[in-house]
Amino acid sequence: MAFFAVLCFLAASVLAASDADIKRNSTEVMRARGFTVDEVYFTSPDGFILLLQHMHHSPLVAHRGTILVLPGVMCSSYITVIADQAFPYDLAKQGYDIWIHNARGTTDSRRHVKWSPKDKEFWQWSLENIGMVDVPAVVEFVLQQMGERSLSAVIAHSEGTAEAFMALTSSPRAANVSTMVQRYISLNPTVFMHHVSNPLFQALATIKLPELISALGTRDFDVVDSVKKIFPWLCDIPGFCSNAVCLSVGCEGNQWNKAKLDDLAAHYPAGTSAQDIVHWAQLIRTGRFQRFDYGAAANMALYGQEEPPQFDLSKLTVPTHIFYGGRDTLSDQRDVTQYLLPALPKAALASAHLYPTYGHGDVLLNMDTPTVLYPDLYAALTM
Ligand SMILES: *[C@@H]1O[C@H](CO)[C@@H](O)[C@H](O)[C@H]1NC(C)=O
Ligand SMILES: *[C@@H]1O[C@H](CO)[C@@H](O)[C@H](O)[C@H]1NC(C)=O
Repeated sequence: MAFFAVLCFLAASVLAASDADIKRNSTEVMRARGFTVDEVYFTSPDGFILLLQHMHHSPLVAHRGTILVLPGVMCSSYITVIADQAFPYDLAKQGYDIWIHNARGTTDSRRHVKWSPKDKEFWQWSLENIGMVDVPAVVEFVLQQMGERSLSAVIAHSEGTAEAFMALTSSPRAANVSTMVQRYISLNPTVFMHHVSNPLFQALATIKLPELISALGTRDFDVVDSVKKIFPWLCDIPGFCSNAVCLSVGCEGNQWNKAKLDDLAAHYPAGTSAQDIVHWAQLIRTGRFQRFDYGAAANMALYGQEEPPQFDLSKLTVPTHIFYGGRDTLSDQRDVTQYLLPALPKAALASAHLYPTYGHGDVLLNMDTPTVLYPDLYAALTM
């Protein structure tokens, strides 16, 4: 904990905004590295207008396939492309076309055909709507755009992993969508949350939706603002409240490019709904991977049972590769080995890789990923 706070403090104190990426949006960040990027807007089945970014494969190599990237909670695509060594660049250089999803509620996906972010209706959803509604539709849309029948892979991080598990097992179109995904690469899966030790998420797990909304006066969840209002004591940890990245992702990695961390702090968090945060709080409190809990009476009306239904991971058919860290405070390795791996059908679990020194953000940000992580990632992509 002390180590973690010190790192955050150091990161927050390196305020020299000398890095050009700090003023760039995520498309510009990718273009600045020489890649061709299209911004493609897609309207989800329930009316959210989402930004998808298509990074074309390098013109120096032949097209090898298409990969959909699903970032984590409160993250736009920015976190997946800010590090110079980030995996989307490497994969584009190997011939993959990369599509990155910006989830509803994040900075560039804040429009709806009917509602504005000022309306409470705009914010009435959680990760299950992203996983069961948006992700299946996005998979199909990307394949239409590419003129292809299946994705080489879905690569998801953190909340994106939960969304992908829902899309592939529990969405109304799960069986169909599963035929469109050749493999699923799950980075720092946040599914069963018995052992969360991230102080922010532990604190959040204690609150309920009405309390959260009355404390914030809004349904748009801004992590730093919320912490200052609801858990001011968390800010007694030096540097903690000044860096939202460390606050929510954890700054375990000791090999991050500190200038990139400052860039990220300027673009993070990209936002989500209060209901999404409350859904996470429920998952942490119960340790179950289940639908949103509205309370017994409303659950009965909506689901036909008093307890929210659990997502049934035994339905997974897409070959799945799990990558997890030994120092991850959100996706604790015990939750991966004791709960997630045993819940997956043996035929679907293709490989599992532990990185003992990695925390929650290292697969995206650690400078050693090209030697530590990528050999396993590439092997998974050709398995
Ligand atoms: C990013 O900046 C470019 C201008 O360089 C602009 O064309 C593009 O629409 C911006 N993207 C977003 C999502 O704001
Ligand atoms: C999957 O969905 C697509 C488009 O909605 C449809 O054309 C196709 O027939 C479906 N395939 C299966 C196996 O249900």
